[in-house]
Amino acid sequence: MANESLAPTRGAVPGASNGAQSPFISVDSVWKVFGKNPERVLEPLYAEMDKSFIQSELGNVIGLQDVSFSVEQGETFVIMGLSGSGKSTMVRCLIRLIEPTAGSIVIDGDDITAMSDKDLIEFRRSKIAMVFQHYGLMPHRSVIDNASWGLEVQGVDQATRYERTREILDLVGLTGWEDAYPRQLSGGMQQRVGLARALAVDTGVLLMDEPFSGLDPLIRRQMQDELVRLQDELHKTIVFITHDLNEALKLGDRIAIMHDGKVAQIGSPEDIVLRPEDSYVGDFTQDVRIESILTARKVMVPPMVTFPGHLNPRAALDAFGRANRFLGWVVDEVGRYIGALSHSAAERASRSGAARLDQVQECLDQEYPVLTPATNFDEIIPVAMGVDHALPVVDDDRLLVGEVHRTDVAEALAIASASSPDYEANAAENAAQDTDKS
Ligand SMILES: Nc1ncnc2c1ncn2[C@@H]1O[C@H](COP(=O)(O)OP(=O)(O)OP(=O)(O)O)[C@@H](O)[C@H]1O
Ligand SMILES: [Mg+2]
Repeated sequence: MANESLAPTRGAVPGASNGAQSPFISVDSVWKVFGKNPERVLEPLYAEMDKSFIQSELGNVIGLQDVSFSVEQGETFVIMGLSGSGKSTMVRCLIRLIEPTAGSIVIDGDDITAMSDKDLIEFRRSKIAMVFQHYGLMPHRSVIDNASWGLEVQGVDQATRYERTREILDLVGLTGWEDAYPRQLSGGMQQRVGLARALAVDTGVLLMDEPFSGLDPLIRRQMQDELVRLQDELHKTIVFITHDLNEALKLGDRIAIMHDGKVAQIGSPEDIVLRPEDSYVGDFTQDVRIESILTARKVMVPPMVTFPGHLNPRAALDAFGRANRFLGWVVDEVGRYIGALSHSAAERASRSGAARLDQVQECLDQEYPVLTPATNFDEIIPVAMGVDHALPVVDDDRLLVGEVHRTDVAEALAIASASSPDYEANAAENAAQDTDKS
């Protein structure tokens, strides 16, 4: 994802600069076949056949058929698909809660498929945390004892684990509920306890199998926002399972769409929605609103007029003249955004004898709207309608990273709306972009 326009939306940098490094999780040609003599399904005669054929011919149920993908450190990787498509089987095979029939799985350099049972148990304890749809809380344990369960299993003493768990409970908004029991909590709160339990053990990998499916829509959205916020802070490597496309698009840096045990497509939300590679994915995503997928990152260009804060308003007026523009961005010595400066504000400042732009009140007020690379078109469009000039784009550290022009927003929308249903062309374009990225 080194291609700037397609870089992931959140703190993680999946696949960005570490092309030479191996991915954090690597799944290679994994099969799971249920039923008698599962290996025969891998023979050339059957290996290419689809799930329903194999089921009627051999009686074996395909859970996973030759599934490969990789997940980068700090990435949120979403596996999405309809009921029965193999999502839970996949996430369980990852840490061999279900034994894969064939294939290899490597997590953080450890070959999971080759591990002894003893090593596997230790590996799960120390490196993996899981959250499920049914929170799996123990009814006779208080919130804090439920949430610190993973630490208890690791043998951490009570004082240390309570201290750590209190921090995490605070992070998920449960301060004050430490001594309550699960039955006293709503579903959303119970799910927060489940999440806290997974976060408390401080593993690098978080596996989440439909964790929010049991929640009503409002709470569900809150929990999604919560996870996005937490992930900004924690940068875990997350494998998140869902059958909800909107949830997948909201949370995933990349998404794998599964269909009958196979991976139909893997890509960024934009790849999946704008360039589906087959009719299955296309049908899935056809109703997604393009405005919710496209972001400022897609259309931002380098900032055209920037002024160092120490600049004199007179000099700014000259620069406006040379650039033939009427709005510019004032930045500090390291490039952090201070505010927008209009030509007329520079004129007034110049007349009033102000010495430096970073003392001009109209610029410091920051009334002009500011975008981030991840701001989506749904938010940009109304803002862009309300201003006559470009909009500045700043990153998490307030560094000015670009600007967005209204005409580019309109053009990107028009192109995306007309994107072709030509699946082969889409696949070729996605592959070309993947090559760019590596
Ligand atoms: N223990 C089992 N024995 C036989 N078949 C199984 C077993 N577990 C799963 N399957 C089959 O494997 C396929 C994938 O199931 P899986 O539970 O992974 O689907 P899923 O995508 O998680 O679905 P859901 O959204 O309903 O949770 C299904 O056809 C299912 O019937
Ligand atoms: Mg499932």
